[in-house]
Amino acid sequence: MPIDFKELVTSRLGENYDLHERYINTTLVKVQRTIGFDKIYAHASGAYLYDMDGKDYLDFLSGYSVFNIGRNHPAVKKAITEVLEMDLPNMVQMDCSLLSGLLAEALVKKMPAHLNALFFCNSGTEASEGAIKFAKAATGRPGLISLEGAFHGLSNGSLSMMGIENFREGFYPYLPECQRVALGDLVQLEKLLATKQYAAFVVELVQGKGVKTAKDDFFNQAQALCKKHGTLFVCDEVQTGLGRTGKMFAFEHWGLEPDIVTLAKSLSGGYVPIGAIVMRREIHQKTFSEMDRCVVHSSTFGRNNLAMACGLATLNVIDEENLVENSAKMGALLLEKLNALKAKHPFIKEARGKGLIIAIEFEEPKELKLRMAWQLIHKMDKSLFTQMIVTTLLSQHRILAQVAGHNMDVVKILPPLIIGEKEVDRFVTALDAVLNDCRKFPGPMWELGKNFFKKTLGFSKAAHLEALGRAGESALHPMQHRGIDHPAGTK
Ligand SMILES: Cc1ncc(COP(=O)(O)O)c(C=O)c1O
Repeated sequence: MPIDFKELVTSRLGENYDLHERYINTTLVKVQRTIGFDKIYAHASGAYLYDMDGKDYLDFLSGYSVFNIGRNHPAVKKAITEVLEMDLPNMVQMDCSLLSGLLAEALVKKMPAHLNALFFCNSGTEASEGAIKFAKAATGRPGLISLEGAFHGLSNGSLSMMGIENFREGFYPYLPECQRVALGDLVQLEKLLATKQYAAFVVELVQGKGVKTAKDDFFNQAQALCKKHGTLFVCDEVQTGLGRTGKMFAFEHWGLEPDIVTLAKSLSGGYVPIGAIVMRREIHQKTFSEMDRCVVHSSTFGRNNLAMACGLATLNVIDEENLVENSAKMGALLLEKLNALKAKHPFIKEARGKGLIIAIEFEEPKELKLRMAWQLIHKMDKSLFTQMIVTTLLSQHRILAQVAGHNMDVVKILPPLIIGEKEVDRFVTALDAVLNDCRKFPGPMWELGKNFFKKTLGFSKAAHLEALGRAGESALHPMQHRGIDHPAGTK
């Protein structure tokens, strides 16, 4: 008898965290319970998640930017259903499937003319790994250059380019010949490039960690230097691609001409994993150079019909619903309203971003009482303040957001690109209220922070440190003690 999924889900919904604690990531469950993220979501639609009581949660995390078109979009659902009903041949491998050809054609149409050859895979990190191989084969060089703060995925090649130390620890050694430069450091970049040892310079044009980007023409100059020294310029658009930054691709903001572009996340429509590497034809040919090398790089599930159908349907939705324009418009509105809160809340340093990848950075307030509160919390843990904000946004206002990285006072939001003024106002009003609560010291917000710390370090040690007034000489993030990052978020 086939499984009755309606019955299965209805009868067992609520067991989620127990099952994960038992069989999957026990530590992650512990963290989610500690920070109050152990919600049971029963339904999802557009920009909202719904719990078992039907209460709505505004999703400003978008599955780390998987849901640019919103959750459970009917057009993608229809595409999957139709493809399933046709009983198409799938993953024959020794043929050329139609849908992958059509998606390649549709993606090439969206790219500058020189980016005209595709490789399909199944995730962002696979796209990074593939880009590394294509670049090595095309240049015959061993090395890679990436940026400090970079995130390109968590498999070994991607980790070799990782610019966030917490993710690297414990997984050495990495690929040799990998170097990182600071965003903006053209001198160091040119010094490395001049050695002619580097196949690629790989960049996220708006970094997921902290939402940092070049304010000047660093990327243009870096691209010119790459050209001069024969290194390929690779844009990782896994998160920034498909409208996230208010342009179809982030490289358009600077008028760049990358040699390789990687995509994943939202190309899936939020349904079936997919990754894509778009490049110049001559780069592609350098890998698939002979008939006996025609599958020298490949993936069994790449080009599968359901993923391809999701990609095609997603691109269509982005165009039909003008989501790139909406991303730019709603992003500008959010930045305007968030920066207007600065006048009222001494904690806000700035709101920054492009389109709908936005960071709200906080700083130590001037007022003596609040400064004391800030310092106390920061002595305990450098990411505690933002965790307090994110947890309260969820518990009091039913809004899902994330801490932007370790040891930084930055909250990050990645709303779906379909949001309107209603969602913008709900978020800004909620943040305003949470920051009002932060002005009360002593008060429940600051207690919440202390409680996180006590729960992760153990009550007695935390109380002892606090009493000694030197809490947090161990400045590790509570989650870092256990090697956990994603719930607080960095991606
Ligand atoms: C810029 C960037 N590149 C690559 C990746 C890796 O993608 P995946 O998690 O699908 O492997 C991510 C994931 O967050 C990302 O943000």
